[in-house]
Amino acid sequence: MNSEDIIENITKYVYKLFEHEESGHDKWHIDRVRKLAVSIAEKENANVFIVELAAILHDLIDEKVKETIRLDILEVEKLLKMQRVHKDDRDKVLKIIDSISFRKNISQNELSIEGKIVQDADRLDAIGAIGIARTFSFAGSRGHIIYDPEKKNNHHAIQHFYDKLLKLKELMNTETAKYIAEERHLFLEHYLQQFYSEWGTTTEK
Ligand code: ADP
Ligand code: NI
Repeated sequence: MNSEDIIENITKYVYKLFEHEESGHDKWHIDRVRKLAVSIAEKENANVFIVELAAILHDLIDEKVKETIRLDILEVEKLLKMQRVHKDDRDKVLKIIDSISFRKNISQNELSIEGKIVQDADRLDAIGAIGIARTFSFAGSRGHIIYDPEKKNNHHAIQHFYDKLLKLKELMNTETAKYIAEERHLFLEHYLQQFYSEWGTTTEK
C-alpha cells in the first residue's frame, strides 16, 4: 500500500470514531492538528508521512477521550499493521503518540523531530481563538462555570488559561511553531483583558 492510501484509510477510520467526541477532541481537532503538523513538517524538513500519521492518531489513546472511543497502544499497532505500515515507521509513530501528552511531561530529548512537531501542532490548537473555544467547550462538558471572581471554585474555564494555555508558548519545540504561537498567545492576553473589562474587574485571575 502506498503512503497516500495508508493515510486515507487511517483517516477514515479515526474521523468516524471521533465523530461524536464532545470534549474538544472531535474529528475537527484531529484535522486541524494534522494540517498544522504537516505544514510545520514541511518547513522543518521532517518526515511528513510519520508526522501526518502520528497527528491523525495522536488522541486515540488519550485518557480524556471517551472510553468507547479510546484505543490502547496495542490496538493502534494492530491498525497500523493492518495498513501494512513498516515496522520502523510503526515504532516511530507509536513512540510519538505514547509520549506527547502534556501530563507525561517528557523531556524534549526523548522526542524525535516528528514527535516535537505533532506536540507543537497539538499545543497550537489549544491556544488562540480556537483554543479559547475548546476551553469553554471542555469546561461546559465537565459542568464547570466560565469564571468565579470570588475564587471559591477553581474549576472554572478562565482558570485553565493560567494552568495551561498561557504556558504553552514557551513550550513550543520548533521555530515555526514558536512563530505561530506568538500571535495566538497575544490573542489570549487580549481576550483576558477584554473579559475582565466586561466583567467589571481590574484584578486578574
Ligand atoms: P489536547 O488535545 O491538546 O491534548 P487536552 O486533552 O489536554 O488537549 O484537552 C482538550 C481541550 O480541552 C484543550 O483545548 C484543553 O486546553 C482543554 N482543557 C483541558 N483541561 C481543561 C480544563 N480543566 N478546563 C478547561 N479546558 C480544558
Ligand atoms: Ni489533541
